[in-house]
Amino acid sequence: MLSNTEKTMDKIVALCKNRGFIFAGSDIYGGLANTWDYGPLGARLKNNVKDTWRKRFIQERKNSYEVDADILMHPRVWEASGHVASFSDPLLDCKECKMRHRADQLIDNFDPNAHADGMTKEEMFDYIKAHSIPCPNCGKHNFTDIREFNLMFQTYRGVTNDAKSVIYLRPENAQGEYVNYLNVQRSMRAKLPFSIGQIGKAFRNEITPGNFTFRTIEFEQMEFQTFCKEGTDADLYEYFKNYGHQYYMDLGIAEEHLRFHDHEKLAHYAKAACDIEFLFPFGWGEINGTHNRTNFDLTRHQEYSGQKLEYLDPETNERYIPFIIESTYGLDRTVLALLCEAYDEEVIDAEKNDTRVVLHLNPVIAPYKAAVLPLSKKLSADALKVYEKLQKDFMVDFDETGSIGKRYRREDEIGTPFCITFDFDSLEDNCVTVRDRDTMEQVRMPIDEISEYISSKIKF
Ligand code: GAP
Repeated sequence: MLSNTEKTMDKIVALCKNRGFIFAGSDIYGGLANTWDYGPLGARLKNNVKDTWRKRFIQERKNSYEVDADILMHPRVWEASGHVASFSDPLLDCKECKMRHRADQLIDNFDPNAHADGMTKEEMFDYIKAHSIPCPNCGKHNFTDIREFNLMFQTYRGVTNDAKSVIYLRPENAQGEYVNYLNVQRSMRAKLPFSIGQIGKAFRNEITPGNFTFRTIEFEQMEFQTFCKEGTDADLYEYFKNYGHQYYMDLGIAEEHLRFHDHEKLAHYAKAACDIEFLFPFGWGEINGTHNRTNFDLTRHQEYSGQKLEYLDPETNERYIPFIIESTYGLDRTVLALLCEAYDEEVIDAEKNDTRVVLHLNPVIAPYKAAVLPLSKKLSADALKVYEKLQKDFMVDFDETGSIGKRYRREDEIGTPFCITFDFDSLEDNCVTVRDRDTMEQVRMPIDEISEYISSKIKF
């Protein structure tokens, strides 16, 4: 089968909108920059990805615990974590067209080998000047100085709008795991190394264009923190880098579309940091990060909260503050990477100019596992019984309109791995035809065996 290599963001965004995966946020009001809403199929896909993460990171791992902490936390948390002081982007404005830009991105887009993440504010300013980097909006080179702009959204608690009532929407999930570290350790009688994971929303006041759902102001993270003894941290760091890489390959991403990116400039809390990047149609982009956060976070929380956060090692009777290896997954970026990876246009018959759009999603994350298609509307009532039977086990679609060929194509476009055609013979032999999305091969099988057949194909 020939594949069309022209996989563009425009095509993927259009498919997502037309087929109910992702819509522009506040669409009827003209949208709100960098916000997107998941439609029926997108919400399903996202939830399926969450399920795979829970399986790999919580269920299949000993000493792994999931929490569901609040988005709003005590404001001192963000002072202790360093976010109030230093969670900022270097911004500058174009004096000509007034467009605001991130200095590091201007440089990286100008020359990806320049590595702006290793530069100070002053070095970035000098680089932009020395290379006369133009404003991407108006093409002129006339910028303000670079200023640091804090990315946290803040709001007020209660009735007064003064400095004392400021609270923040969390910019990362991690702190919810850190402040609960002792609660989890004690209640679960956990011994090091143990891990706390969480799936939840985070918020950042991102000002740069987002590349669809790649950079948004509200997004979900699947974060996983492993608490360990100093000295075991370097091995765990390497282990979780590779664990994440394998997870993405198991979800269906080809190895050549993934790469590691070791950080040169480290965040204030990190001893080592490495991203996994995916090759999006717009270039390489970070989808995951592994960080050796040392004992920075817990030491700071101990200092700011006044609560002892030491671990009493039952083997040595030592007391110490554990190190943390963080493994964080952007859920929205993971979903976008999976959609981009899965999207394909296949030439079925070049002479007839016949191509099909297909999402080769791993069946385990496909929104619908199967679609039941009666060959004729006269068969709908009987086909519905098959649909209702399968619905008990999986998300299943039912489609009775249009030719069978058109219905296959509609299901291909949303990544449904199996199409089950109920024909006139089905009334007699209690069998149906099952068509495979990827090979388009069809096999006839008893209705009673379909559920087991699909189950066998969606193991993760
Ligand atoms: N707790 C560590 C942490 O938050 P991060 O690298 O800032 O680290 C982790 O974020 C992941 O969250 C990233 O790898 C990315 O997948 C996702 N992410 C970060 N900012 C995002 C944004 N504005 N929109 C969508 N996803 C984002």
